[in-house]
Amino acid sequence: MNAKLDSGVTTRSVTRQTFDEVLVPTYAPAAMVPVRASGLDVWDQEGKHYLDFTSGIAVTSLGHANPELADALTKQLNTLWHLGNGYTNEPVLRLASALTEATFAERAFFCNSGAEANEAALKLARKYAHTKFGPHKSRIVSCLSSFHGRTLFTVSVGGQPKYTEGFEPLPQELNHIPYNDIEAARAAITDDVAAVIVEPIQGEGGVIPGNPDYLQALRDLCDQTGALLVFDEVQSGMGRVGSLFAYTQMGVTPDILTSAKALGNGYPIGAMLTTSEIAKYLAVGTHGTTYGGNPLASTVGLKVVEMMSRPGFMERVKEAGAKIMANLEKLSSDYPQVFGKPRGMGLLIGLPMAAEYQGRSKDYTKIAENLGLMLLIAGPDVVRLAPALVVSDEQIAEADRLMREAVEAFIAA
Ligand SMILES: Cc1ncc(COP(=O)(O)O)c(C=O)c1O
Repeated sequence: MNAKLDSGVTTRSVTRQTFDEVLVPTYAPAAMVPVRASGLDVWDQEGKHYLDFTSGIAVTSLGHANPELADALTKQLNTLWHLGNGYTNEPVLRLASALTEATFAERAFFCNSGAEANEAALKLARKYAHTKFGPHKSRIVSCLSSFHGRTLFTVSVGGQPKYTEGFEPLPQELNHIPYNDIEAARAAITDDVAAVIVEPIQGEGGVIPGNPDYLQALRDLCDQTGALLVFDEVQSGMGRVGSLFAYTQMGVTPDILTSAKALGNGYPIGAMLTTSEIAKYLAVGTHGTTYGGNPLASTVGLKVVEMMSRPGFMERVKEAGAKIMANLEKLSSDYPQVFGKPRGMGLLIGLPMAAEYQGRSKDYTKIAENLGLMLLIAGPDVVRLAPALVVSDEQIAEADRLMREAVEAFIAA
């Protein structure tokens, strides 16, 4: 063993600079290093406070270090961590029961991330089509600007070429069509299509809500051609838009739904939900993962579902979303040269940069962060807000104040 690791390895001093020295440079994290958080409050290494309107990219929806979740996880940590899929466990049985009771689905498959949930959905759709109709039915249709994860299959299905460049050769039989364009969907969804995958609200692609008529047209085209309709609700799901999943507000039910992110509030978990009829095509041995449905992740997921099912929870998400939206509309009308019209659903909100400031969303969020407000971007032209669903009116007012201060500094810079 390397003698340097004998002592102090867990307590050695580390800074943002250490990232550049020992991490693969796939990310460019902020200059500050967060060390502690509670609710929507975050503190960095220097003790500086930030109001978090990112939720770790729509993940910590019940707030950082949520005491009820910490309590449930701690109890499970002292009971049973992991067994592998040769055994089932009580938390996963309860979580699958809760998710199937709360949705159209009758069967659940668990994994560790959104990409893996989509990978499972796409593999299931291919298996279903091959077995039921034959190998000619293999094409997958997805939308331009969509994001479905970073495995080679999901990143290729995603509609952002910048993420696949240099990773070729890519999986075959994939088509990308413009989002919310019914005519393009009609032309693309033919008898050789195995699956259509779509985000009911595009998140990474700029916070663009799907048009219910469009989603219904996808449903009809899938029914006519025998393709499976997959809703990627990794970002839009788990209460983010004011219902457990967005599909219920859209009035369109998919064949397969994927979830991750807020399902674990920061504990890694992904889920693919579907009907019994479709699920049977992933028979024993056709797919799997070591950690999927592990007792720790399942315990957290179950507690999250339970907490989000409490009376008034979703109403408050909608109310908080409406308050933020009203503030942003005012902000954009006060600074029309900087911001366009805000859009979104519930607490997934995008604020586009106006023509004069195209490509500058990150510059704005960096200024806001210096002032103590953490914000996201959704591409170079959109500022994205995704605060924890438990955000208070005081925090909404504080974020508004900081966004206004930030815009003044942004214009002056
Ligand atoms: C809609 C959507 N699908 C899939 C993913 C990928 O999830 P993960 O990063 O957990 O693999 C994301 C992540 O941002 C997402 O927004």
